[in-house]
Amino acid sequence: MARILLGVSGGIAAYKALELARLATSEGHAVRVLMTHSAGRFVGAASFEGIVGAPVLTGDFERDPLRGSFPGDPAPEHDPIGHLEVVANADAYLVAPASANTVAKLAAGMAESMVTTSFLACSAPRLVAPAMNDRMYRDAATQANLRTLRERGITVIEPEEGALASRGEHGVGRLPDPRRLLDAIESVLPGPSGPWDGLRVLVSAGGTREPIDPVRFIGNRSSGRMGLALAERAAARGADVTLVAANVTLPAPAGVRRVDVETAAELASAMEAEFGSTDVLLMAAAPADFRPSVSADSKIAREGSIELDLEPTDDILATLGGGRREGQTLIGFAAETTSGDPSAGEKGGLERARAKLRRKGVDAIVFNDVSRSEIGFESSENEVVIVEADGDRPVPLASKESVADAILDRVEAIRARAAEQSASE
Ligand code: CTP
Repeated sequence: MARILLGVSGGIAAYKALELARLATSEGHAVRVLMTHSAGRFVGAASFEGIVGAPVLTGDFERDPLRGSFPGDPAPEHDPIGHLEVVANADAYLVAPASANTVAKLAAGMAESMVTTSFLACSAPRLVAPAMNDRMYRDAATQANLRTLRERGITVIEPEEGALASRGEHGVGRLPDPRRLLDAIESVLPGPSGPWDGLRVLVSAGGTREPIDPVRFIGNRSSGRMGLALAERAAARGADVTLVAANVTLPAPAGVRRVDVETAAELASAMEAEFGSTDVLLMAAAPADFRPSVSADSKIAREGSIELDLEPTDDILATLGGGRREGQTLIGFAAETTSGDPSAGEKGGLERARAKLRRKGVDAIVFNDVSRSEIGFESSENEVVIVEADGDRPVPLASKESVADAILDRVEAIRARAAEQSASE
């Protein structure tokens, strides 16, 4: 349970802040809400008050009937200065949605409303979730303001791409869904120390691109969603997460360090550079197995037919698995399309996954059948079988976040077993 302070500024996405308040409250957190005056043009204070069970504060000189305390806590005997007391009691402060105007005020250090004044006075972890029209988001002023906030150690939760509030507009600027916002808050909370606390987790995601010439490449359909879900859930558990993203267009979860790569060779060197200090490797990326042996320096003209000579790339996971040290846990992934026809001597996907477990020197292979469209590359759901040396563990169809949690639960069990074994040796 944490004390979460939620600052709401004026924007159509303010209705999602209501859903966030409901989700956080239903998961046992105590929530207080601050609103800017313009937020009140989009959602009513009474809605927040009903959900969180505490008054909403708006004006900077407004008296707080709860004297800065959170629901469930006793109010102090004296009457403190509202905005100073409520932030002093908060474990984290998230401004969501943060309009372009509010982002600018926060970056400039202004204190002209309850939201901005409290932000300045807050020594707990601070998060900002910008949401606005994509042209406003991309503008150099907004980007510079967000950079300033990041440089000051404030977590900026990147907006998502999709349909925007103004009719027919599409772009980057959507406020992420409440689950992602709450995960971001939970990832910055000190939290009780558990098996994931400070654990260094390295996640690869996406698919590599191997250049044919400066404009063309050989790629694959991996979107990076499964890797992002793993990174997000591991960070929410308290891990220190590095994401190596191969051509992933989706935003990285808050609080996760991101390294962008394009080719299998770049992925290999990024993974090798990080692996030594890694406790848990989750190799969800789809590296190319072959690349053009030569990439043309200039665009190949359309004249007749061409032949591409392909050479194999290195097996990154097998190389890392070959050099693993004690205390590391390695998880590979196998996206297969073959159910396998044994009568034709073909191996089934699961059997191929078991062979990869041995060949790559890993603790588990997460197998999924990408020929099924409902759990394919772009889908938000997945159904997998976690293949380990002692047997297979099916994970039924669920969101990629729930599947990520099931995989992380196995990582926890594998590490607990390994720790027990090394203690008894
Ligand atoms: N992998 C890797 N480097 C490669 C290819 C794959 O590290 N060049 C990793 C993937 O990230 C995944 C696991 O190995 O975690 C299995 O990937 P997959 O493509 O299924 O295995 P391959 O070894 O390529 O086997 P095959 O193509 O024969 O199925």
